[in-house]
Amino acid sequence: MPTKSKPETFEAPAVLRPPLKWAGGKRWLVPLLQRVFDPHRSGRLVEPFLGAASVSLGLKPVQVLANDNNPHLINFFRQVQHGLVISPELPLANNKLVYYELRTKFNTLIQEGRAFSPEGASLFYYLNRTGFNGLCRFNSKGLFNVPCGRYRTINYIRDFRPYQALLAHWQFHSTDFASLDLQDNDFVYADPPYDVEFTKYNGVTFEWKDQVRLAEWLSEHSGPVLISNQATNRITKLYRSLGFKLRYLDGPRRIACNGDRKPAREVLAIRGLGDVNLSD
Ligand SMILES: C[S@@+](CC[C@H](N)C(=O)[O-])C[C@H]1O[C@@H](n2cnc3c(N)ncnc32)[C@H](O)[C@@H]1O
Repeated sequence: MPTKSKPETFEAPAVLRPPLKWAGGKRWLVPLLQRVFDPHRSGRLVEPFLGAASVSLGLKPVQVLANDNNPHLINFFRQVQHGLVISPELPLANNKLVYYELRTKFNTLIQEGRAFSPEGASLFYYLNRTGFNGLCRFNSKGLFNVPCGRYRTINYIRDFRPYQALLAHWQFHSTDFASLDLQDNDFVYADPPYDVEFTKYNGVTFEWKDQVRLAEWLSEHSGPVLISNQATNRITKLYRSLGFKLRYLDGPRRIACNGDRKPAREVLAIRGLGDVNLSD
């Protein structure tokens, strides 16, 4: 297959907001990451946990290895890369009846093995923006089961072609992070699901053993590595024991179960970046 040649210069479009709503989005971290990433921008940025791609869209590198184990999310970005324009026949309506009708349509595509298509990406986008809190949840049969959200207004995008130039040289994968093939100089930014230390909630799919597996995988990479996570005791201990430098941050305010609006305590763990200054 012919490979696309890398452009010498690349005119990044002004500001392109992440088109999806995603739990744990890191748009707020981009200004800080920008300073650290700038000296490495001629190389490749690897995001093993892409989510809404807030970081890659914000840093605008030319080459990105973008991975997420959610195949519908990756199909959406692949279709955007190919110039997705949502058909005028698909009503982008902030309306409960339309939502449940289109949710059924998306699930029919899944059952018929046709979800990884422009139509699947269009429906995935619509459900993401209209559903409850941008959640992405599937039942045991693999069917999308998020209820309709309650938004006063939603600014939908129908034409994603403005994103095409930025994504032109991104490579997409949908696999477990550990299956990615890293090159020595790759700059890795990892944003796994948060470590939740004290919970009996069975819905946690990224377990402690996965956090350990990730930390060990990252510590074996010879190039620069930066990872963000919730600053739990065991996470900070884990990364410190593997020789990472730590920097603590206050994340955006989130509503806790007791109603307090406390900023989440976050940690950045860094390796292979020399004496980088991460102060504000
Ligand atoms: C915190 S979110 C990333 C958010 C992203 N940084 C942003 O700004 O939108 C974590 C992502 O990791 C993905 N994920 C969970 N387990 C994974 C695994 N084992 N390998 C790769 N991706 C995984 C989830 O689907 C989710 O999109």
